Amino acid sequence: MSRLSEQEINEIRAKADIVEVIAHYLPITRKGRSYSAVCPFHDDHDPSMSISAEKQIFKCFVCGSGGNVFSFVQKYEQLSFIEAVYKVAEIVGIPLERPQELMYERIDPKTTALHKVCHDTIEYTHYQLRTPDAQSILAYLHQRGLSDEIIDRFELGYNPPNDALYRFLHAKKHEDEHLVDAGVVRMGPQGMNDVFYHRIMIPIHDENGNPVGFSARRIGDGAEAKYINTQETPIYHKGDLIFNYHRAKGEARKEKCVYLVEGAMDVLALEKVDHHNAIAMLGTACTKEQLKLLSRLGVDVVVCYDGDQAGRNATYKFGKLAKGILSFTIVENKTALDPDEIIEAYGRDELKKTLHKTISWIDFLFAYLMHKYDLENYSQKKEYAKELAEEIASLKDEFEKKNYYIRLRELTGFDMDVKEAIKKPQANATYQKRTYLTYPKSGILAAEYEILSQMLHARSACNYFRDELGYLLDHHANQLALCMIDYYRTHAEIQVADFLNTISEEGVKTQLLSVAQWELASDEVNMEALREAVTKLKSCMLDEKIARLVQDAQAVNDPIEKAKIAEERNALIRERNALIQTREE
Ligand code: UTP
Ligand code: MN
Repeated sequence: MSRLSEQEINEIRAKADIVEVIAHYLPITRKGRSYSAVCPFHDDHDPSMSISAEKQIFKCFVCGSGGNVFSFVQKYEQLSFIEAVYKVAEIVGIPLERPQELMYERIDPKTTALHKVCHDTIEYTHYQLRTPDAQSILAYLHQRGLSDEIIDRFELGYNPPNDALYRFLHAKKHEDEHLVDAGVVRMGPQGMNDVFYHRIMIPIHDENGNPVGFSARRIGDGAEAKYINTQETPIYHKGDLIFNYHRAKGEARKEKCVYLVEGAMDVLALEKVDHHNAIAMLGTACTKEQLKLLSRLGVDVVVCYDGDQAGRNATYKFGKLAKGILSFTIVENKTALDPDEIIEAYGRDELKKTLHKTISWIDFLFAYLMHKYDLENYSQKKEYAKELAEEIASLKDEFEKKNYYIRLRELTGFDMDVKEAIKKPQANATYQKRTYLTYPKSGILAAEYEILSQMLHARSACNYFRDELGYLLDHHANQLALCMIDYYRTHAEIQVADFLNTISEEGVKTQLLSVAQWELASDEVNMEALREAVTKLKSCMLDEKIARLVQDAQAVNDPIEKAKIAEERNALIRERNALIQTREE
């Protein structure tokens, strides 16, 4: 399946620092020789995930997930292995031509088919826009200030009437079922009909740039809905999608901020003033999933909703959800207009200026909540002060806090700082139960860990194990040992992070990660420790055999048979004693 050689994959792995790549998704903190982060793979509250920069692997001590940089991205983004490799290359900026078919290479062939339907729909409707029949539509877009360059970059299109799209897709051999499931066609009384006939098409993609649906604007001022979006489909979950995310993310990281606007047309409005880092939720309230996507950018969110009451309500709603999760500021829009209308009414420079004027969440609340509560009324004023104080209390910056409390006191007469002082100190915070992966300290398992750990360090240790023992008692440990022997046939040494790629069984991977992190201190092979562990295991195995023979002897009655077993047992006991002696010498 892979179009990259093992060597190429390992080169990408070597260039991609796991710490940097994980930091691209999560906040991480340094902790001695390694780093830690709140694990995204279980409901974690403490940082239970540890990342080793030296070994280039990660491991969660609570849920057990772990692996190398590819495993992390694969799991986080839910990608196939090879997609994760391309993704990692992209994150660390290794130029790599992504094969076209990989854009659609998903685990589920149905998903692939639906992406292709969307892809072909975009191609067809984008082409239609430049046909003579669509002249007035193109003129309308131009009149709205959309240049050909923007039209092409966003692949805007026109879905003609008379079910022309359906006929095109049908001729392209798409199955009707896929067309319906992708949401571009529906079954009517007389056959198949285009869902978006006679509408302007704005393609929507998922965060990886796969086309998944459309926002379609009516032409002119008809009675029907101004925008209709793709209904929920297997690839279009509106709560998971952010319009323009895939295009904006690079620029957002460069500019260290992303603009959140209400509609697709506002994203395009920001394009007109050369801001390529705008995104929109497309008429939905922000979901947890969307917040996660936003926070993954790791940049400030600048909320720039419409300047009318609906826009302010939406800002309030967003702020309530996002506070504590994201850092965000709010554009102080003193007009009642949306970004697009600001350009229309006052020109591009005015929009640029407006985008620059931001206020904090608390600033916004001071003004916004005045409309919710009547400050002339005592009880309402108290409620106002309480709601604001609660928001102020959750700020981290003491300087900001102090100043806001002063402002609140001046405005309402309530000194909420007093309330906070009474509340402190907080009784011991909710105790969080933590389970740690425990490494064996003694016994057979510890000996097996020792052997595996030495084998990781050097081929010579691996050869010694193969010649002296050849197998381990624990199933996964044994599998891992066999994998190592095999790996050393073609590799001079083992880089844990690369070696991980060659192992498919989860249990064996987990075993490898535990062993790799078992003894972080030892860097070199220690043949002495290896010999000792092998001897120990051998004698344990002999003990087991002896015990079994003792049992066997009890079960037989034939004296000759009994004597034979006893002799065999005595030979084993001698062998074991000899072993122990050499060990003690
Ligand atoms: P607006 O009515 O403010 O639209 O709705 P707009 O973005 O300014 O569009 P233009 O400039 O008139 O073309 C804001 C958002 O609400 C959603 C859309 O996502 C829109 O961008 N909406 C609006 C719908 O989903 N359906 C509608 O009928 C109207
Ligand atoms: Mn508008």
